[in-house]
Amino acid sequence: MRKLFFTVGITAFIISLMSFFYFKIGLFLVIILLVLLLIGLANSLQHKHAILRNFPVLGYFRYFFESVAPEIQQYFIERNTDGKPFSRSERSIVYQRAKNISANTPFGTQLDINQSNYEGIRHSIFPAKVNEELPRILIGGPDCSQPYSASLLNISAMSFGSLSENAIIALNKGAQKGNFYHNTGEGGLTEFHLQGGDVTWQIGTGYFGCRNEEGNFDPEKFAQNAKHTSVKMIELKLSQGAKPGHGGVLPAIKNTIQIAKIRGIKPHTTVLSPPNHTAFNDTKGLVQFIARLRQLSNGKPVGFKLCIGQTTEFESICQEMINQNCYPDFITVDGAEGGTGAAPLEFADGVGMPFEPALIFVNKTLIRLNIRDKITVICSGKIISAHSILRAIAMGADICNSARGFMFSLGCIQALRCHNNTCPTGVATQDKMLMKGLVVTDKSERVYFFHKNTLHAANELLAAAGKTSYKEVDASIFMRGDEFIHLSDLYFPDNLTNVTKY
Ligand SMILES: Cc1cc2nc3c(=O)[nH]c(=O)nc-3n(C[C@H](O)[C@H](O)[C@H](O)COP(=O)(O)O)c2cc1C
Repeated sequence: MRKLFFTVGITAFIISLMSFFYFKIGLFLVIILLVLLLIGLANSLQHKHAILRNFPVLGYFRYFFESVAPEIQQYFIERNTDGKPFSRSERSIVYQRAKNISANTPFGTQLDINQSNYEGIRHSIFPAKVNEELPRILIGGPDCSQPYSASLLNISAMSFGSLSENAIIALNKGAQKGNFYHNTGEGGLTEFHLQGGDVTWQIGTGYFGCRNEEGNFDPEKFAQNAKHTSVKMIELKLSQGAKPGHGGVLPAIKNTIQIAKIRGIKPHTTVLSPPNHTAFNDTKGLVQFIARLRQLSNGKPVGFKLCIGQTTEFESICQEMINQNCYPDFITVDGAEGGTGAAPLEFADGVGMPFEPALIFVNKTLIRLNIRDKITVICSGKIISAHSILRAIAMGADICNSARGFMFSLGCIQALRCHNNTCPTGVATQDKMLMKGLVVTDKSERVYFFHKNTLHAANELLAAAGKTSYKEVDASIFMRGDEFIHLSDLYFPDNLTNVTKY
């Protein structure tokens, strides 16, 4: 192709040059062809990109189309039920609720409800009255002296660093207005989280906001920050669904001087929080550390977040809680389908237990060990609609967190650029120019309305199932498509199976 490029290029250049000399036309063409020839020459001599070496100018089309592939996919190819991780319909419902406009749909479902993966709610012939009050749940076990009354839906952990300053401020202000909590993520508690909204301060393996010079846990710094009145709960992060066993990743391009200062790290370098904690290294140490955090925070609720991997390890942690008679106030279960700012593909695609089996396992284990009443179960994993909230409760959750749902409410368009600092909506970037696009006053209202309207829709769904309290929700109100596809005896009961003719 190189040969063809230079043969055609040089010929065209000579012809245009001659036409310029003889007829005084085509100077512009001469310049363009010369520039293209020089670019082509440079590309064919470089050793880094095979495509550009072989196709010295046309090769750029590949890079261009690759860079706009998510947009082309989203704008021209995607149907309402397509789109990953979230379909267009799922994103739209958040946008509509966040804008406080009708989220009704015309003409009927677009889902293929005869497929075995269809999931529906068994409504009641006698629906209950819709509760206008938004549900709240008290968090705090026997050792907690400052229990916290939490909303059923809250903002899941996302750090300042993975999200922009404006995004964090808008989330916090929205949380303040709607009276729900905002989890800081492992990047530490910053001034942007302290805009008046309730905060769950997350402590990851980097101990940002409570680390000493060596990067280990510093009890004094922890106690100082935990004292803040906005900090309602402490969450110790063991792992995260999108990258369990890996630790946090802050790409160098997003590690600005401002973030580095807050975290106490070197700017412009990729920061990997270690996969393991240095404050403890076994189940005994973990349970002791939880007790220590609770004592240092003056009795605020303390819990841990994890993605389930080896189930026996979780069982041992529970056993250790019983041995020490010391329980976390909450456990947050994150499904392997969870989101992240940046993760290696092998971890995002192939490590950890998905949301549904993980939540069922955690709930049942706590019940089996007779400690379920001491611990609030929080969950996260693609909770975006009223349906997903009820489903999570049916599987054993008390409280739901949403990360990407709230990102959509901020205007995220699923451009899939959280990791390279070019998020076009200013949500997941540290580029000041892009961040300016996100107007805090407008977006904090959207955060508020997304929360309010989603929970109102959950109340409506609850009532449609004939229930008056979320405590009444269990798996029996759900059905899966294959129940009525494969259980043909529902249509043809035993006494009719031998009837073949009229
Ligand atoms: C941009 C981004 C940053 C995140 N940062 C953190 C974090 O710092 N700590 C954490 O525990 N989880 C983090 N998560 C995971 C979320 O808190 C949540 O557990 C997961 O995305 C599942 O919720 P979702 O499906 O509603 O997004 C992050 C997720 C996203 C999308």
